[in-house]
Amino acid sequence: MLSKMPASDNAQQCHVDHSIAPAQTTRGKGHTWVKSRWKNPSLLGQFSVAINTLSSWITPRNELDTSSDEFASLVTGTNDEGAKTIKDLFGEKAFNYAKPPSLVRELLRQATSPGDLVLDFFAGSATTAQAVMELTAEDGSDRRFIMVSSTEATADAPDKNLCRDVTAERIRRLNAADGKYADLAAEFAYLRTREIDFEDLDYDLTPGQAWSALEALHGLPLTTYDSSRGWNGHDGDETVLVLVDTPDSTLPDWVSARSGRNLFVYAWAPGQVEAMLAGIDVLPVRQTLVSRFIA
Ligand SMILES: C[S@@+](CC[C@H](N)C(=O)[O-])C[C@H]1O[C@@H](n2cnc3c(N)ncnc32)[C@H](O)[C@@H]1O
Repeated sequence: MLSKMPASDNAQQCHVDHSIAPAQTTRGKGHTWVKSRWKNPSLLGQFSVAINTLSSWITPRNELDTSSDEFASLVTGTNDEGAKTIKDLFGEKAFNYAKPPSLVRELLRQATSPGDLVLDFFAGSATTAQAVMELTAEDGSDRRFIMVSSTEATADAPDKNLCRDVTAERIRRLNAADGKYADLAAEFAYLRTREIDFEDLDYDLTPGQAWSALEALHGLPLTTYDSSRGWNGHDGDETVLVLVDTPDSTLPDWVSARSGRNLFVYAWAPGQVEAMLAGIDVLPVRQTLVSRFIA
């Protein structure tokens, strides 16, 4: 699944989403919850002592033989590993100071379980995504990820898009890689965010953007909106989603063939579409998105 949400040129942020149910990002996972699932009790003990820094219980792999720290029980690579991984994948230093994948992977091994959704708001070169992919390859778990990062565009470099060219590109390259990365795989969608004023929503939001938001809202895999059609339908196993931009004569038959199912029909002007689809509720795109995404 790969879909792209077009956005204005000044979009400053995007996210890379290996999660078909983004609504779950708000699932409550406080500190207590993480601690209660901390897998290595000796690490948990260290973690809760505020005066011990994180690095005090992590041993770089190249210091393993000489380390006398009895508490340091998480062994990882160093920044060299991060730099080397970037070089392996991009053939050049595409990102400075990438974290070692093994460090993030071992932290995630401790702090997450299969099925968890890992969110990195400052994803940079997407080391966290690779760490999730490595864990999945190792134990077959279905951990998912959302990577959020800045484009790093500036007045001097207005076209820079680190998120597209490094964050998402790393995941693309890992998916295509052979050799030591051959087992890593993650379907994902690359999306860009942009700000739209409420009052401009009807005019500024394209049907394709509304489509991605509605699919996400209903927990459906993201698909590409076909703007050459007056309406698009997503015929999911459990949920059927329809977004009507311009109704046409093919719509009533398609919808009525699915009327016994979990059906959601959206339109910009529901009244007109409801008149065509006797007995079927048609939901307003604008109000739905405003009430869902604005507190
Ligand atoms: C320290 S780097 C993260 C490195 C990452 N752990 C890795 O291994 O590649 C922080 C990243 O956050 C991004 N960033 C900074 N401010 C941001 C913001 N407000 N929203 C999203 N990302 C941001 C930066 O562009 C940078 O790529």
